[in-house]
Amino acid sequence: MPPKIILKNLIKIYGKKPLAALELFREGKQKDYILQSTGHVLALADISLDINQGELFVVMGLSGSGKSSLVRCINRLIQPTSGNVYIDGEDVARADEKRMRQIRLNQVSMVFQRFGLFPHKTVVENVEYGLKVRGVPPMNRRRKALETLEVVGLAKWTNYKPTSLSGGMRQRVGLARALATDAEILLMDEAFSALDPLTRGEMQDELLRLQKELHKTIVFISHDIQEGLKLGDRIAVMKAGSIVQLGTPEELLTQPKNDYISAFTQEVNSAQVIKVGSIVSKTVSLMIGIDSVSSGLKQMLHHNLTMMYVVDEHNKPVGLVKKQNLETSLKEGNEDLMAIMETDFLMINAATHLENIFHLYKQGDSLAVVDREKEFIGMVEASDVLTSLGRPNRY
Ligand SMILES: Nc1ncnc2c1ncn2[C@@H]1O[C@H](COP(=O)(O)OP(=O)(O)OP(=O)(O)O)[C@@H](O)[C@H]1O
Ligand SMILES: [Mg+2]
Repeated sequence: MPPKIILKNLIKIYGKKPLAALELFREGKQKDYILQSTGHVLALADISLDINQGELFVVMGLSGSGKSSLVRCINRLIQPTSGNVYIDGEDVARADEKRMRQIRLNQVSMVFQRFGLFPHKTVVENVEYGLKVRGVPPMNRRRKALETLEVVGLAKWTNYKPTSLSGGMRQRVGLARALATDAEILLMDEAFSALDPLTRGEMQDELLRLQKELHKTIVFISHDIQEGLKLGDRIAVMKAGSIVQLGTPEELLTQPKNDYISAFTQEVNSAQVIKVGSIVSKTVSLMIGIDSVSSGLKQMLHHNLTMMYVVDEHNKPVGLVKKQNLETSLKEGNEDLMAIMETDFLMINAATHLENIFHLYKQGDSLAVVDREKEFIGMVEASDVLTSLGRPNRY
């Protein structure tokens, strides 16, 4: 499937004569130099990236790094100075205002930080507003608005004014309004930043729950690393208008590209983010009915292992054998792998977070990691976990 959104060499310069400043940028001048010599602000310094259909894509960075500029180029609340923004293959950087209005109504909706609700309209009127603008008949838009309020858990509050609602509830109204339009792309600029920490956590869970059902393409902006890591399928970390690193939460934690990224992620509890599947390195296994004691020992020596898991014909782990026992067995002339296979072992799903497996190490020295179908992916030892948390491969 082609990417839902493609940004190509996107440049945004704020100021009266952006093209002169663009020249300077093309000559290789930095943001600070351009600001000092021309008074123009380089907000996006040649950004190229793809966002996939159904992806929850987080843009992270400190204040002023260009996050809002980036997201506003996507629905053209601002005009890019140069470059392309493709939505479903259409370059919206070149679309006229009429076409843009259609796109904003049908394809891209936005949730704002300060909710952006009409104080004098009721909750349901706020939610159906986007549909009203689109010309959806009253009965239909009311039905859709009520349905969406049900989805975000506000069915009981439809006839209240936003002022009677808590911050978290107001943001749910904002979310419902964006969802009611059925737009496939949702832009959320610091949507949860104004909420207290507890409510914010709840809204994050809510968004993840909704996303599981709705599969929207979401561009979520945040300056909070913990929030970004929790929500993002992938995260782009911005600094001074450029992307410093783009990757999965685990990649940012385990393979930070430079000191800037490591500093960002330092405070984060990696064990809550890194999944067992991502630290599996030893993926070899022996197969029941095929491997013998001598072939098993040979592979173990070849891969420099002291134990290996044995899988059945469906690649499901059924036991493990240890090097020591293989050697003894071979000396005794016994080639039957099954005879020395231990069947009491620990199996863990690849999607489990590391923090949930610490206690298991007290019981055994390794874990068999399996996928959703219970097929063998590889093994993980206590040392692998500690290595990944210590982040030795920083550079
Ligand atoms: N309308 C504007 N005119 C001039 N400069 C602007 C304008 N909007 C933003 N900027 C500048 O562009 C740069 C990027 O701003 P932007 O708002 O995109 O950052 P941000 O990452 O969203 O920051 P924040 O976390 O504070 O919202 C900053 O240097 C900012 O000062
Ligand atoms: Mg911003």
